[in-house]
Amino acid sequence: MGEIISSREMCRLIVNVLKLKDRKIITHCERTALLVYYMLKSEGILEEFEIADYVFLTVLHDIGAFKTEDTSKGLLSFEIEKPMAHSIYGYLFLKHLSPFGDRAKILLYNHIDWKVLKGIDFDMKKMSNVIGFAERVDLYNHIKGSRFNYNDLRSKQGIKYSKAVFDMMDIAARKYEVFDKLNEEQAHVEFPNLIEGLMYSDEEKQRLAEMLLYVICFTDERRLRRTLASVIIAQEIAKYLENIDKDQMSKLYFGAILHDVGMFSVPQAIADAAELTDEKQIKAFRRHVDVVDNILKNRIDPEVYAIAVNHHERIDGTGYPRGLKNENMGMLEKIMQVADRAAELYIGRGEIKGRPMQTVVSIMMDEMNHNKFHRRIVVEFAENASDIAEKIQSTVDSMIEAYKRINLQYEQIKGVLKDPARPD
Ligand SMILES: [Fe+2]
Ligand SMILES: [Fe+2]
Ligand SMILES: [Fe+2]
Repeated sequence: MGEIISSREMCRLIVNVLKLKDRKIITHCERTALLVYYMLKSEGILEEFEIADYVFLTVLHDIGAFKTEDTSKGLLSFEIEKPMAHSIYGYLFLKHLSPFGDRAKILLYNHIDWKVLKGIDFDMKKMSNVIGFAERVDLYNHIKGSRFNYNDLRSKQGIKYSKAVFDMMDIAARKYEVFDKLNEEQAHVEFPNLIEGLMYSDEEKQRLAEMLLYVICFTDERRLRRTLASVIIAQEIAKYLENIDKDQMSKLYFGAILHDVGMFSVPQAIADAAELTDEKQIKAFRRHVDVVDNILKNRIDPEVYAIAVNHHERIDGTGYPRGLKNENMGMLEKIMQVADRAAELYIGRGEIKGRPMQTVVSIMMDEMNHNKFHRRIVVEFAENASDIAEKIQSTVDSMIEAYKRINLQYEQIKGVLKDPARPD
C-alpha cells in the first residue's frame, strides 16, 4: 500500500490543527523545538532521526495546557507561576494516549530544577532539562525581545539548569545563529526540516491521529464521543460491504478521525446551535470543511482527503461545500457521509440531544428516501444498528476509563510534585 501520510506530514498536521486551537501555545512550542533541535545538533551525539523525535516531543511539551488552562486568558503565565498542572497532564496524556509512552516522563520533569532532577532516578532527565531550558529561553526571549540574553540565566546554572544546557546553547547561538531564527515565521518555516528524519510505523501514525483527537477534545468530551462514533459506524458499515479491502478500511479510519478537526475555526455558539438562522451563521459553520481542506490538501492520501472534505456532501447534490452528486463521489466518501450524520444524530451536538438508535435509524431511512444518502450503505447501517450501538458504547466506556485513570494519576502525582516556590 502507498503510504497514507508520511511521518513528517502527520506531525505537521498535528501542529497545524493544535495551532487552530491555540496559536499562542503552539507558536511557543515550535520556537522551543527550534532551540532544542540546534542544541542537540550542537552536541553532535544524536543521529538526525533521534533529534527529530525529540523535536516532535518538544512541540508537544505544553499540550497539557489544553486541559488545564483557559488558554484564552493570560500570556502563558501557567508556564512561570504554576507549571506542574500542565506538565503532569501533558505527561499522562502522552503516556496513555500516544506512541511515546516511554519518553513521556521527559515532559513531567521539564519544569523541575536541575538540582532536584539530578537526584531523581530517570535516565532521560538530561532531555527534560534541555526542553525546560529551551522553553524558558524562548518565553523570555519572546516577552523581553532584545533586552534578553540567555546568559542572563547563568545565575541559575547548577540550580535550575545544568551546565551542559548552557554549553549546548552557546554553540547553538554561535555556530547555528539560532537566535536570528527564533521568531514565529522562521520557526514555522524551519519546522518541517527539523523533523525530516522521523520514521513512524503505520500503527504509530494511527495512534498519533487518535492522540490529536483526544487533545483537541480535552474540553469537549461529546465531540470526542461523536467522532469516535463516526469512526465506528463507518468501519462497521464497511465491513458488510463487498470490495472494501484493508487499505480502504484504514483510509476510512483516518478520514473519519480527521473529518471534523476544522471545527475549532467555528465559534462555539455557532458550533453548538440547534439551528442556524442566517446566512452568516451558516457560512461560519461550513467553514470547518474549508479548514480541513486546507490542512489536508496534498499532504495525505487523496482518498483520505476526499473522505474528510466531502462528509457534508449529499448524493442529490444538496450538500456542501461543492454540491457534488452521486456519480462524482466514491463509496468511501458516501460511507463517511452516513457515518457522520448518524453519529451526530446518535450522540448529539451542542444544544441538540442525542437520540435512541432506533430513532436514528428511522431518520436515516427517511433521509435516504429523500435521496440524501446511498441506499445500500444506509441499509447496512440500519441492519446492524444495534451491534453498532453496542460497539460505540464499549469504545466510549474505555475512553471514560482512560480519562478516569488519567485524572486519578494526576491527583497522585500532584501530591508529590509541587510547583516551585518562586519562579525565576
Ligand atoms: Fe511548560
Ligand atoms: Fe512551554
Ligand atoms: Fe462536519
